[in-house]
Amino acid sequence: MTIEWSPEAREFHLRNDRVSYIFRVLENGWLGHLYFGAPLAEGRSYAHLVPGEFYGFSNRLGEPVPLEYPSGGAGDYRIPAVAIELPDGSGVLDLRYKSHEAHPGKPEIPGLPSTYVEVGGEAETLEVVLADAVAEIEVRLLYTIYRDRPIVVRGARIVNSGKSPAIVRCAMSASLDLPDSDWELISLSGEWARECHVERLGLRPGRQSVSSTRGASGHQHNPFVVLARPATTEASGEAIGLGLAYSGNFVAEAEVEPFGTTRLRTGINPDGFSWVLESGAEFSTPEAILAHSAGGLDALSDAYHRLFRERLARGSWRDRARPIVINNWEATYFDFDEPKLLAIATAAKEMGIELFVLDDGWFGRRNDDSTSLGDWQVNLTKLPGGLDSLARSVEALGMRFGIWIEPEMVSRSSDLFAEHPDWTIGVPSRPRTEGRNQYVLDMSRPEVVDHLFGVLSAVLGGAPISYVKWDMNRTITEPFSPALPVWRQGEFLHRYILGVYQLYDRLTKAFPGILFESCASGGGRFDAGMLAFAPQAWASDDTDAIERLKIQWGTSLAYPLNSIAAHVSAVPNHQVGRVTPLATRAAVAFFGVFGYELDPTALSAGERAEITDQVAFYKQWRELFQRGRFLRLRSPFEGERDEAAWMTVADDGRSAIAAHYRILSRPNPGPQRLRLRGLDAAAFYRVSIWPSPAEAAGVAARPIVLGGDELMAAGLVLESSRESAGAGDFRARLYVLEAI
Ligand code: DGJ
Repeated sequence: MTIEWSPEAREFHLRNDRVSYIFRVLENGWLGHLYFGAPLAEGRSYAHLVPGEFYGFSNRLGEPVPLEYPSGGAGDYRIPAVAIELPDGSGVLDLRYKSHEAHPGKPEIPGLPSTYVEVGGEAETLEVVLADAVAEIEVRLLYTIYRDRPIVVRGARIVNSGKSPAIVRCAMSASLDLPDSDWELISLSGEWARECHVERLGLRPGRQSVSSTRGASGHQHNPFVVLARPATTEASGEAIGLGLAYSGNFVAEAEVEPFGTTRLRTGINPDGFSWVLESGAEFSTPEAILAHSAGGLDALSDAYHRLFRERLARGSWRDRARPIVINNWEATYFDFDEPKLLAIATAAKEMGIELFVLDDGWFGRRNDDSTSLGDWQVNLTKLPGGLDSLARSVEALGMRFGIWIEPEMVSRSSDLFAEHPDWTIGVPSRPRTEGRNQYVLDMSRPEVVDHLFGVLSAVLGGAPISYVKWDMNRTITEPFSPALPVWRQGEFLHRYILGVYQLYDRLTKAFPGILFESCASGGGRFDAGMLAFAPQAWASDDTDAIERLKIQWGTSLAYPLNSIAAHVSAVPNHQVGRVTPLATRAAVAFFGVFGYELDPTALSAGERAEITDQVAFYKQWRELFQRGRFLRLRSPFEGERDEAAWMTVADDGRSAIAAHYRILSRPNPGPQRLRLRGLDAAAFYRVSIWPSPAEAAGVAARPIVLGGDELMAAGLVLESSRESAGAGDFRARLYVLEAI
């Protein structure tokens, strides 16, 4: 890993064995981009990769000179990285190179989540200072390169060195100019209960973007996009990833201009955003995480998974095996009492489940979703002994105990709202819109954050609580804080998320032993910002195994398996009414942080025995399911959309589990094969099947020891016409591979 600076060529080259990022100071002092991709040799200049002399757009109007952090107003008409309204009312910025410094390690960003380093020599950071002499604005660009990751992390700090306030209208975390547009934009889009569906479309002239204006990253689009070459597959080809460690309004956007080059940018969504920068003040952007892969989408995902798992997630749970939970939400909804909960926990414990989660409805007068958010005192009618007694009873069973909270919200019918109506978000002269019968607390106010820290600390400190599911069930309307001056209202939504981060930071530090899981009606805030505090997230309220194939496939593009919470629920499924085999539900949920969301007391003895086996199987292979390298084999978004397959492989290649899912049964399908990846070609693997071979009639007859070369080149024989007949829909089969 090096950060090379050539004073003659005025060129920077950030490099490790997996990636190079190169840019230079142009003749006029602007920062020009040269290259991001597979590693190039050190000690050379690459200045010739872009037009020779460049003295500004006035000489070459419209020519697409690639820039590192472009501003508008001086002839570059593409989407800017930065836009500032200056004290004279103009918005023309002329940012020229002033100085630079390289440091070992990586700085934190005040108030914002970020990736980090833990040991010396792991990463280096370059800070390049650009300055506009007239406006007295400085922009400090930060670039971190890790020793052994194909990743460059970027961010910017904007400093007002002038005497009057300026208004930041747009401040991207990163902007990247690419020399062509032969790319497809992959985004993760959807809605409640169908999050992170993969969309892939070729770039065309103009702007293509995904974004949020809801105050949360949202179910609709994830703050993560990929540019992939049209020929790029999971296993091969070039791809560039653009992630953002941010949980609020974001944009991720590509623009193809008339010469066919592409500008890619991501950061806080400028729509509705502004930030007043007083004299001497500075503004930090969230960080953008850029990755390059020459080996397909698998390799790109692997780079993000490792970084997010090892150097974004933090705390005592970062590296620990995550417990198998049972959550009472779909089992009881709001209708429970202590005996009912303990009956669920007792049955769960008998099946080997490790942690009981008490979901919504344990506080205030909450018997449905119309009251009590904000009143974080236990409902003694439902739980006469309080949380402490329930938690101790659960612990006495040999399980751990967790609870659900929704700190950012308040019900109109609550003591908190009666006491502090002014703490809710809204424009005083207008009605506030309710969502799920609730309002949103103004997290931009320090007193609100302090209050929540106080009441939630009392809850978490008052009982043996090992896990917290932090939910957020509505997005923000009427964004306005009476506590902010008129001219600062454009800051509100960013300040809101800074308040959320601060509360997370304080609670996770005060309760370091608690495992936090984030949630926003499922995957409505599943992003890299949240993962810095809560190392796992509830991926979707949709627990149907077939729907989950798509959701988990898409989510895995960016996020590691040990961040994706996935539960087996009852049938008919509560979201889509589908009836799938219990084995299939487990076979999908295994590939994530596994758990159950059903009433085990309502199951037959046979079903309980099956679950006991599932739990034992997951425990046996937990490390592989939670931290193995995930390879996507057959997409539920492609072809006839009738099957899916994926696998997880240990880093040493000695063990792997592949899964194949057949959605609708096919008549007479003929012999089907599935080629695996990531194995040791020279090794022999014992292949066993889950569910047990007795159910997988016919397969057990095949050889059970197969070569890694054969499994990857020829493939695994999946099913025959004989097996398919009468097997039914929604089938799953797992293949456990152990090197011998
Ligand atoms: C939405 C979550 O996604 C569900 O899992 C559940 O916790 C409910 N909220 C509770 O209100």
